[in-house]
Amino acid sequence: MTDAPILVAEGLVGGYVPEVDILRGCTLTAADGEVVVVIGPNGAGKSTLAKAVFGLITLREGSVTLRGEDITGAAPHRVTSKGMSYVPQVANVFASLTVQENLEIGGVLRRGEMRERMDAMMSLFPRLGERRRQRAGTLSGGERQMLAMARALMPDPSVLLLDEPSAGLAPRAVGEVFDTVARINDAGVTIVMIEQNARRALALADRGYVLEGGQNRFEGPGASLLTDPQVAELYLGGAGAGERPEPPPRVSS
Ligand SMILES: Nc1ncnc2c1ncn2[C@@H]1O[C@H](COP(=O)(O)OP(=O)(O)OP(=O)(O)O)[C@@H](O)[C@H]1O
Ligand SMILES: [Mg+2]
Repeated sequence: MTDAPILVAEGLVGGYVPEVDILRGCTLTAADGEVVVVIGPNGAGKSTLAKAVFGLITLREGSVTLRGEDITGAAPHRVTSKGMSYVPQVANVFASLTVQENLEIGGVLRRGEMRERMDAMMSLFPRLGERRRQRAGTLSGGERQMLAMARALMPDPSVLLLDEPSAGLAPRAVGEVFDTVARINDAGVTIVMIEQNARRALALADRGYVLEGGQNRFEGPGASLLTDPQVAELYLGGAGAGERPEPPPRVSS
């Protein structure tokens, strides 16, 4: 890891309609090679922050730079071509298309290297290799999340923006998602991850942010946020509390 900032989002103000600002001056930076985690209550604006960084909503104020280049207001495909990929919280794969077709769509910006990128994804996610011709809609929740990450990695990004990759998954799949995120980071990809599994995410994070009301409430090294009594009390379910309760087991596969 170096200290050079790769992603800098500063003073972001904006939302979905002109009169209502969801983001109210929030800031997020990521250094090259870091894992940066964003936590905060429902409705805090976490997904909106991800969309703003990726050029999916129009900002009223603030700027986003990637490797020093201003990408504020750039269209998502331009942002991807500059080296940042995004996995949305919902609807992150094409359910009616196969695993392979989803990956091909992810790789359109790298047509010339499609075979190499596809092979790289199959070795990073062996289970997707086994299910290459299966429709994405028939994958398990965990497999689908793997596919969404693989699709986003097809363009070989420097920065991967993940919106709640473990949401709604069974406990074992949650663990797999976190392990996978760590492996992607080990391969040199800077990670910006929004997460509801706050303790687990902060444990993995170099740095974390707590977002509330569209503003930064706390920030610091992941380990410091985990042990900060105020953060624990307000956002981690109290000091010493474990993970939030796991969802009931899924009935179907
Ligand atoms: N497409 C939209 N149009 C209008 N308002 C929206 C839209 N999406 C989100 N909002 C509003 O923006 C606010 C922040 O939503 P956002 O989805 O960013 O929160 P979040 O922190 O990601 O929450 P969660 O933890 O539930 O995912 C909420 O008040 C929400 O109702
Ligand atoms: Mg969200």
